[in-house]
Amino acid sequence: MYRCSECGAEHPKWSGRCDACGDWNTLDEQASTARPSLAPVAPLELGGGTAVPITEVASDSASLESTGLGELDRVLGGGLAPGSVTLLGGEPGVGKSTLVLQMLAAQASQGSQCLYVTGEESASQVAARAARLDALDERIMLVSENSLPRVLGTLEADPPALCVIDSIQTLTDPSTESAPGSVTQVRDCAHRIVGAAKALGVTVVIVGHVTKEGALAGPRVLEHVVDTVLQLEGDRHGELRVLRAVKHRFGSTQEIGLFSMASGGLESVSDPSALFLSDRRAGLPGSVVVPAMEGQRPLLVEVQALVNQRQMAYPKRSVQGLDGGRLELLMAVLQRHEELKVMDMDVYAMVAGGVKVTEPGADLGICAAVVSSHYKRGCPEQFVLCGEVGLGGELRRVNRIEQRLAEAARHGFTTAVVPKSAPASHPGIEVMRVPTLDAAMAVLDLY
Ligand code: TYD
Ligand code: MG
Repeated sequence: MYRCSECGAEHPKWSGRCDACGDWNTLDEQASTARPSLAPVAPLELGGGTAVPITEVASDSASLESTGLGELDRVLGGGLAPGSVTLLGGEPGVGKSTLVLQMLAAQASQGSQCLYVTGEESASQVAARAARLDALDERIMLVSENSLPRVLGTLEADPPALCVIDSIQTLTDPSTESAPGSVTQVRDCAHRIVGAAKALGVTVVIVGHVTKEGALAGPRVLEHVVDTVLQLEGDRHGELRVLRAVKHRFGSTQEIGLFSMASGGLESVSDPSALFLSDRRAGLPGSVVVPAMEGQRPLLVEVQALVNQRQMAYPKRSVQGLDGGRLELLMAVLQRHEELKVMDMDVYAMVAGGVKVTEPGADLGICAAVVSSHYKRGCPEQFVLCGEVGLGGELRRVNRIEQRLAEAARHGFTTAVVPKSAPASHPGIEVMRVPTLDAAMAVLDLY
């Protein structure tokens, strides 16, 4: 076999000239390349069952069992699924141990046998905390243990209904050589605990520490191993704690739970809007109230903005609890459609109270707060604002507007400025429907 080095044509015999391109002395001898065999390959042994129509599969709608803590149940969509494994992550000191201890107490008082494996604190420290939390119950068995095989042994000897491991970073498996708390250790231990939980039908909650950057070896590498991942967030110096589901095999990850850390442990926050607005100074320039949605729940939050002359070569933008990219976009809209020279100003925006609001329904509120701060004119005190802002300066609809209006009315707000598509009226609150950002600013009398 000979191939032309110019055009690649193949020839069975050597010749001085390539028939295909006409070039001279370009044919090179090629080693004959064996063609791959086309013989049929034996079918793969795939194992597993026969396919059945999805309609004929008995759906195992995991019956969730209430944990006894209302806010936790809300996040879980009803409770924990028996035999499931849940990872509770959060920064050190945020309240994970407190939460699990309160959950164990609630479960034990319903008659469930519980096991608390503590690797961080001694058994007597846990008992002292349980006494303070009024969580002493003889159905909570306590074991202070760092060795994985011994924990598994305890589980097997007398399987409880619910087992808490506090925390996964303190467990070690002597048979692996990596250091305690390393990614390999954490992952190996978690795999074996999950295996044991499924084999024994024990519901397991694993506590794991995460640093602010999520960097510490642990929870992040476990997310795919467990059924549910919960994250407890909050400023450890403040009292508000937000519990959210990052992953949940048995329900939605939409809901959040709100707690406040008090002297008697974590308490459910029954009226979060009142909490968020408690320190508000109504009428302050740069401050507005937005009925935002957190999961299925309307929350009234205070959105604040501060606009200053630029201090450095580039204007500074900073957000807390809001989406920074969204703020940039809204600044561009304000610059163009309101002829507000904010692109060259330093702009700071935040949500008071430590919650995060990243839904577009807060757009109008952010814009109004910026304009209000820029002109140093306060928004009318009894107004709430809600609506998505489009690039053309138009106001767009938001979801669940009725629920938002109801929450605002319940807290005594008299007027809501909303997009045109909102219902014309709502009990207890005056609804002002406006088509554009411009019209909204006129209604709020901010210029
Ligand atoms: P903890 O549950 O130990 O946090 P984690 O397990 O996430 O590291 O709780 C940490 C903080 O909570 C601790 O600094 C003290 C505070 N705390 C209260 O304010 N009230 C209480 O009743 C309890 C038990 C703790
Ligand atoms: Mg702890």
